[in-house]
Amino acid sequence: MAERPSGHSRIWLITGAGRGLGRAFARAALAHGDRVVGTVRRHGAMADLLAEFPESAHEIQLDVRDAAAVATAVDAAAEAFEGLDVVVNNAGTGLVGAVEEVDERTAREHLDLNLFGALWVSRATLPHLRARGGGDIVQISTVGAIGTMPTFGLYNAGKWALEGFSEALAAEVAQFGIQVTIAQLGSFATQWAGSSMPFADPMPEYDELRTSLFGTAEVPWPAVDPDAASAEPDLAGADPSMAADALLAHLAESDRPLRVLIGEDAPGHAALAYAARQDSYGPDSGLKQLS
Ligand SMILES: NC(=O)c1ccc[n+]([C@@H]2O[C@H](COP(=O)([O-])OP(=O)(O)OC[C@H]3O[C@@H](n4cnc5c(N)ncnc54)[C@H](OP(=O)(O)O)[C@@H]3O)[C@@H](O)[C@H]2O)c1
Repeated sequence: MAERPSGHSRIWLITGAGRGLGRAFARAALAHGDRVVGTVRRHGAMADLLAEFPESAHEIQLDVRDAAAVATAVDAAAEAFEGLDVVVNNAGTGLVGAVEEVDERTAREHLDLNLFGALWVSRATLPHLRARGGGDIVQISTVGAIGTMPTFGLYNAGKWALEGFSEALAAEVAQFGIQVTIAQLGSFATQWAGSSMPFADPMPEYDELRTSLFGTAEVPWPAVDPDAASAEPDLAGADPSMAADALLAHLAESDRPLRVLIGEDAPGHAALAYAARQDSYGPDSGLKQLS
């Protein structure tokens, strides 16, 4: 394995690089002059990036839920440009369903993707980063990993757990020159809340709650334009390219913290969630005296 080049050109591995935030991260890194191995589930999902950056973009097919496939894909990724410097665990989806509504199979499938996918990729890349003398692992998390929201409990659980192992990992691998970044994102305009969103089978007992949260008890959420049955709901949130710019800026800092808030709305959500967490101990916990 080649050692890290002294210049600024880095080799990235980004999961879920075919669309949404993953694509924005890939495009920004390529435009910056870096090389990118992107994983996609559908062959050709990165075709336009490959055409635009034929020397520096590479596509690998991978379903991150398959640990054995992850090991093979990570080795292939490290071979593509002879090394890895930055690994971005981006692949993931939301999941809407009250805890009681989410059945066992759905819960396990969700955690297989949002938690274990990132775990398998992180583990498989460590020998490559260590051989290189260091590098970065970036976990794409959310401000929903500080607090919670009703009907997003499994999504919250997956991202909280992602952050749990990642914080420990950061302390374990600092000795190898490997830095972990937990990127807590606010709202970005991708298909996360649109066609990508899985929904648990609704129970009528939670109709009122869903209506209070979403303005409708109907799931999947109805299309915004009632005349266009196939219309996607509005893509709320900021341009994903802003998230990519923020991530590149963060990685360019020499003395960077473990966590970074990305998105204009992220600091406000984080502050509210931390305050709610502190309040959740009640007034007599002793916690406030510590702070
Ligand atoms: N958008 C937001 O507001 C927001 C906020 C906070 C955090 N996030 C996080 O950002 C990450 C990316 O989401 P996004 O907003 O870009 O949504 P998106 O547009 O729906 O993209 C999801 C990506 O994950 C990939 N993926 C899904 N299942 C996979 C699997 N089993 N194996 C490999 N790849 C898989 C998808 O690939 P396919 O194209 O093959 O489906 C796609 O590339 C997620 O971890 C999400 O939780 C998003």
